Amino acid sequence: MRNVAVTETIQYVGVDDKTIDLFESQYVVPKGVSYNSYVIMDEKTAVMDSVDIRAKEEWLDNLEQALSGRQPDYLIVSHMEPDHAGSIQCFMEKYPNAQIVASAKALSMMPQFFSMDMQDRSITATEGGELPLGKHVLTFVMAPMVHWPEVMVTYEKTEKILFSADAFGKFGALDVEEDWVCEARRYYINIVGKYGAQVQTLLKKAAALDIQIICPLHGPILKETGESVSPFKIGPLKYYIDLYGIWSSYEPEESGIFIAYASIYGNTRTAAEKLAEILREKGVKKVKVSDLARDDMAEAVADAFCYDRLVLASVTYDGGLFPCMESYLAHLKSKNYQKRIVGIIENGSWAPMAGKHMKETLSGMKEIAILEPTVTVKSTLNEASLAQIEALAQALCPEK
Ligand code: FEO
Repeated sequence: MRNVAVTETIQYVGVDDKTIDLFESQYVVPKGVSYNSYVIMDEKTAVMDSVDIRAKEEWLDNLEQALSGRQPDYLIVSHMEPDHAGSIQCFMEKYPNAQIVASAKALSMMPQFFSMDMQDRSITATEGGELPLGKHVLTFVMAPMVHWPEVMVTYEKTEKILFSADAFGKFGALDVEEDWVCEARRYYINIVGKYGAQVQTLLKKAAALDIQIICPLHGPILKETGESVSPFKIGPLKYYIDLYGIWSSYEPEESGIFIAYASIYGNTRTAAEKLAEILREKGVKKVKVSDLARDDMAEAVADAFCYDRLVLASVTYDGGLFPCMESYLAHLKSKNYQKRIVGIIENGSWAPMAGKHMKETLSGMKEIAILEPTVTVKSTLNEASLAQIEALAQALCPEK
């Protein structure tokens, strides 16, 4: 991705990374990820965040080109996670007159990451504090725990731009054509999902601002007008802000049923697929099934949040849960999964215990309604367990 104009005076100088195997060493990114960075050209020049050290050379080249011989005055650091902060020291070495602007917490973290002492080249940003660049004026808005404690976002009031840090980001390089919502949801739920209350606080602060453009640290720039140069063509902003409102309040995004199964030899899978078949026959429009042993765990987590109903189907293993189901439930719990209706299918050839363990974990989550009956399969489906699946299907959609 080469430099692209966000406005006449602001340029994108970030980098697409299509070689990373796992983002944060855990999330598959088959279409890569972008590390976004921007330059504001005015009487003073400000660079909005750096990039992962993996991409520092391309970023520094992009930056040099955008600056056209000028020196940067400020590096605004919104977040210290290394996918954005990784190249700060390289920048400060290359531009010895530049100053860092960041929250007090971010500045206190710098020595943990960098050998260079940058204290006497630092300016502390505070809530509502302003930094005039000329025509542009930056206003800092603290966003602690979205999703690190030092995070702040920056509002530029002349052009009505919110530099939103990780908020409104998505997986996927910028030259990839794809819908925004799936990869933005997978990104939000898995990376920021635990911090819904803090996101709500940030959304309330953002509601007081007139925002025409959102510049996130990953994924496309979002514009109210929707025009502009590809790939920055997405708009209007209400769609994205409303989705963030839903996600951060843990409300379901869609009416539908997500069935996540953990099967060893395929018998639990058969039970899960049978339930899906019955639900579709009943007319449920959105039924999605996922194999937790093989499908992307992060997507399965995001899907559980997306739909209003979830069915967990697991075989019993060593008297407990099959590992991928145990891991799935741990992920859901850590992301504050709540406010959902859940059905249970357990399997076990001699002592089915999976249902008991799933219910125990679910009991530690808020506002989870577990449906009756629990389906118990002993090895393979038979008349009795099939009748239980029919009953569970009915409980999942009593109106059908
Ligand atoms: Fe994209 Fe929290 O860093």
